Amino acid sequence: MNAQAPIIPTGLRIIGVGSALPPKILTNDDLTATMDTSDAWIRERTGIGQRHIGGTTSGLATEAAAIAMERAGVGPGDIDLVILATTSPDYICPGTAPAVARDLGLDCGAFDVSAACSGWVYGLTVARGYLLQGMERILVIGSETLDRITDYTDRGTGILFGNGAGAAVVQADPGATADIVGWDTGADGNYVHILYSEHDGVLQMDGKEVFRQAVKAIVRTTERTLAMAGMTIDDVDLVIPHQANVRILEAAWKKIGFSMDDTIQILERTGNTSGATIPMCLDQALDDDRIAAGDHVLFLGFGAGMTWASALMRWG
Ligand code: UT7
Repeated sequence: MNAQAPIIPTGLRIIGVGSALPPKILTNDDLTATMDTSDAWIRERTGIGQRHIGGTTSGLATEAAAIAMERAGVGPGDIDLVILATTSPDYICPGTAPAVARDLGLDCGAFDVSAACSGWVYGLTVARGYLLQGMERILVIGSETLDRITDYTDRGTGILFGNGAGAAVVQADPGATADIVGWDTGADGNYVHILYSEHDGVLQMDGKEVFRQAVKAIVRTTERTLAMAGMTIDDVDLVIPHQANVRILEAAWKKIGFSMDDTIQILERTGNTSGATIPMCLDQALDDDRIAAGDHVLFLGFGAGMTWASALMRWG
């Protein structure tokens, strides 16, 4: 950050994105050794084909962030803050972000955001606040090692979760060519116990209730963000949603009117990677040339808490 002449940004631009997956893969067929299930059932009921396991949350985050920084063409001295969304931190205390900043050679603030699968979108909105206060460049990372809190003998949860990380370098855009034009964050703590883990425990879930609440949250947060932007679904070029089960998206899209053709999906090869899913999907979208300057991209998170968050971004 330039302390002499702080810029007053009026917009926000994503200038580099990266992702990381640990090499070890757990296929649906592998799971049939530890639970009564089948590849056909998991694919049909969730859309998941495999998930990655292993690694550490800080290690995957560092790998994804290093790629994002290289693609952005920035060095350690250019980053003003690290915001790391995770629901599976390396330690209960301290947060994981300081270790990531250390391993990247950064000299800046670093903290975790704990908002489960909505965490990366929460982090993006927090980053926007810091940019408005004069910072120039922020790493917003989502990283998870959910295999440490998943019971792979429980067919209610073990089929869903996997590890991964995605990172974005977010930069102030004084000209506001790029910006978040609408956003929404929300939570309903009445639903804490439909998806949770105790200290040293594993994820416990009422799958049917999570499914129902997720669909409601997606519809509600999309409406609020579009209303703030003064836009309709026809203005949205691409949707990058959190993904836990493809049927959740199909049910929500039926209500909202989005099409799967305009939706980025990585669920089949990653499973549910909580806070890492959306930045990893963004990386996939950029790799596939799915985003052009001026497009409106909707980031859509929902998950344990219940929490939800969405942000509509005009791409620079
Ligand atoms: O980020 C948020 C994280 N979590 C979620 O979004 C989870 C949301 N919920 C879900 O994705 C779904 O509820 C599950 C995938 C967890 C379960 O799917 P479902 O369609 O709700 O299945 P169900 O619990 O209604 O079970 C249907 C049948 C049952 O058999 P019967 O009673 O009809 O004979 C289950 O015993 O399927 C059986 N079943 C399975 N069979 C094979 C349940 N899980 C499995 C399984 N393999 N893994």
